[in-house]
Amino acid sequence: MRILITGAAGFIGCAAALRLAEQGRAVVCVDNISHCYDVSLKLDRLYRLGLSIKDGVDSLGPERAVVSRNYPDLRFFNTDISDKKSVFNLFERGRFDLAIHFAAKSGAGYSRENADVYISNNIQGFLNIMEAARRYPLKHIVYASSSAVYGRNEQVPFAENQSCGKPLSVYAVSKRTNELTAYAYANIYKIPSTALRIFTVYGPWGRPDMTPFLFAKAILSGEPLTLYNGGAIKRDFTYIDDIVEGVCRVMDRPPVKTEDGVPYALYNIGGSPVLISDFVESLEKSLGKKALIHEDPMPKGEMENVWADCSSLERFIDWRPAINIEEGTARFAKWYKSYYKGNGK
Ligand SMILES: NC(=O)c1ccc[n+]([C@@H]2O[C@H](COP(=O)([O-])OP(=O)(O)OC[C@H]3O[C@@H](n4cnc5c(N)ncnc54)[C@H](O)[C@@H]3O)[C@@H](O)[C@H]2O)c1
Repeated sequence: MRILITGAAGFIGCAAALRLAEQGRAVVCVDNISHCYDVSLKLDRLYRLGLSIKDGVDSLGPERAVVSRNYPDLRFFNTDISDKKSVFNLFERGRFDLAIHFAAKSGAGYSRENADVYISNNIQGFLNIMEAARRYPLKHIVYASSSAVYGRNEQVPFAENQSCGKPLSVYAVSKRTNELTAYAYANIYKIPSTALRIFTVYGPWGRPDMTPFLFAKAILSGEPLTLYNGGAIKRDFTYIDDIVEGVCRVMDRPPVKTEDGVPYALYNIGGSPVLISDFVESLEKSLGKKALIHEDPMPKGEMENVWADCSSLERFIDWRPAINIEEGTARFAKWYKSYYKGNGK
């Protein structure tokens, strides 16, 4: 079974690639190591996969594979998935059975000023993967969608059958467009795909632009940390290992026997709803330091409560989050302190 993972220098992609490599699977990892946040963190993640490319990123073309020194069946390509030709070359050479697609410009905030990046990276990039899968058929494509697709939905928990017609960002538009594209390709070309609507992920090796990271940084540096609505808003924090477990179970179960005959599926994958103020408290405990709190009103366009109804996924693959907030923040805090003191290696 040959597996493609896009976005493998990213938070979730790297964790998934590591899990599959440890199982001895043949994995081709792809990322364009974009500068959307600290590149050295991405290179350190790749280092975990046995890929030492610290000094040579710019010399790596899309054609040159770097082989892992820890996992002989893991290779990496510095490829931009928004470039159709490169994606086709990759599929031609890789002859994949399965694609796990994480590569995207993430986060809603940046999309307010930079909508075009989301169209080229997330929409065109996904279309290129689908087009390549037409020419070089796969058994299954699993791809990252987002809780953002629920947009202005007041009814929580969010369930997959709720309307997604009121997106609050171009990021959300890009993820919903991926889902609609996947349906069309499943319907016309019978390409089996599964969307995972992911809710806020946290844990070691996480993303520096996300709240757990920003909170940890503020707490440890003694800077004030901004809480909206006095922290009385709920988010569905999901620990990284739980996401990886879900991805690994779903990837082996392509949606072949659906009711309407279209091999298409989508599932929420989330942890459990937690008040932001409780999350901060748990992080304070884990880091051993109190936060300086600065309160602000809710910004326009932010939802007060975002959490997932994961009962469909539970029924499908018997998946439930295993790591609670106390355990998750403790693991995250331990990693954060060690990584930013000694650079983690
Ligand atoms: N982390 C979360 O809480 C969360 C929540 C909802 C959805 N998601 C989605 O899950 C996926 C993974 O998220 P993450 O947190 O690991 O993000 P991430 O930013 O850490 O990882 C994404 C990776 O994709 C790469 N990439 C971006 N554009 C590319 C391109 N054109 N070609 C090749 N590589 C490209 C980036 O360099 C990055 O390393 C994304 O699609 C994201 O939108 C994440």
